[in-house]
Amino acid sequence: MIQPSALAIVLAAGKGTRMKSDLPKVMHRLAGATLLAHVLRAAKAAAVDRIAVVVGPGMEQVGAAASVLDPKLQTFVQAEQRGTADAVKAAREAFEDFHGHVLILYGDTPLLRPETLDKVRGELEAGADLVVIGFEAEDPTGYGRLLLDDRGGLAGIREEKDANDQERALTLCNSGIMAFRSSKTLLGLLGRIGNDNAKGEFYLTDAVALAHGDRLETRMVLSDQEEVLGVNSRAELAMAEGAMQRRLRALVMANGATLTAPETVFLSHDTRIGKDVVIEPHVVIGERVVIEDGATIRGFCHIEGAKIGPGAIVGPFARLRPGASLAKDAHVGNFVEIKQAEIAEGAKVNHLTYIGDASVGARANVGAGTITCNYDGFAKHRTEIGAGAFIGSNSSLIAPVKIGEGAYIGSGSVISKDVAADALALTRSPQEERQGWAARVRERRGRTPKNAGNKGT
Ligand code: UD1
Ligand code: MG
Repeated sequence: MIQPSALAIVLAAGKGTRMKSDLPKVMHRLAGATLLAHVLRAAKAAAVDRIAVVVGPGMEQVGAAASVLDPKLQTFVQAEQRGTADAVKAAREAFEDFHGHVLILYGDTPLLRPETLDKVRGELEAGADLVVIGFEAEDPTGYGRLLLDDRGGLAGIREEKDANDQERALTLCNSGIMAFRSSKTLLGLLGRIGNDNAKGEFYLTDAVALAHGDRLETRMVLSDQEEVLGVNSRAELAMAEGAMQRRLRALVMANGATLTAPETVFLSHDTRIGKDVVIEPHVVIGERVVIEDGATIRGFCHIEGAKIGPGAIVGPFARLRPGASLAKDAHVGNFVEIKQAEIAEGAKVNHLTYIGDASVGARANVGAGTITCNYDGFAKHRTEIGAGAFIGSNSSLIAPVKIGEGAYIGSGSVISKDVAADALALTRSPQEERQGWAARVRERRGRTPKNAGNKGT
């Protein structure tokens, strides 16, 4: 059976006052992606083909950011926050001529899984007219309670402020996520929702009792509480981050990576990690990172926008910045920073080094303390190190500069001109040695080095 099309209306007009932020709430980030991006991704993964986002006045940046994620996405502005039903009405243009399921999602529930949305859609296909995602709350305070009829069907939703003591004692709660069989079902109910309630708002949740009264089929899909956690404060943002990280870690471990201390490794929404990868404790991975099979990331590394080839070894204490690309079996060691640079197969950059805007050829060896001087205060320039080259410790390579294949750079050199393949280049001044000089000085000053420091000056 072909699945009917679906439209998701994402409500995001809330100001998010409790975040105490200049940024609209749904623009805050979780594992590198905005709250809204997580919701949009779940919707797309559940085969939703059209998305509309409802924002508040002055939240144009939300619409702009959302359309980057989905160019076909429509944004609607709810002029005044008069409740969730009013917010849905603001997107009327998106759904009135739409044929298919209409899902109502919240922009601030980033942990929602596509599998749960699939279940909701499954219920609609099986004949339900209206489906609500419910959950058993540890503490139901603040949530709408789900009211069941005597056959166990869903009869209505009571907002906390309007609930009596008996209703308040219920722990089965409304996640806020709801779905309608068609836009016709939704329109038929929406028009009859009033605002005669404690908050004076138009509650979308009233659609359930209206539907039940019309003898429409109303059903509930149960999810766990964590999955529908709404982010309203920084503390809840941190809780959601924790939950998201646990999920991401579990996924990479399931795919064959070893995380020695998973709770200390931070991943991004888009991190790709192959099998037999080992990640030691205390590693932070930002967006756009790919780690291929058999690579090892030792402790205390910070990695973003980087590609790490098979069998490569990184760290401990390495920093890979955007554009760092390590080929097979490359080694990047402690206190090394790599930015916008390719490190070719088997090349080694093992200690206290900065490689930026550069290429390091296969099996080249870059000694401790080497710096590519890539910036002259105005522009960035490239350094090219040929295959098999050997860069002596504590050398500065002043870009633009090319070191030929197999060339040697003497330690402590400042290299500002290209070096031919297989040549030796060194710029340090020759070493002088004066026989007996130290002994003569001591004799003249009448002191031995042992007591020289004790007399003061
Ligand atoms: C809502 C539900 C409640 C549920 C809870 C789950 C209603 C009436 N109540 O309550 O049953 O248990 O979520 O968290 O729906 N929004 C707009 N425009 C508005 C009002 C809200 O876009 O005028 C958006 C908000 O940005 C938010 C969502 O709708 O994303 C929910 O609004 P919120 O005010 O948080 O509703 P709750 O009182 O939490
Ligand atoms: Mg809320």
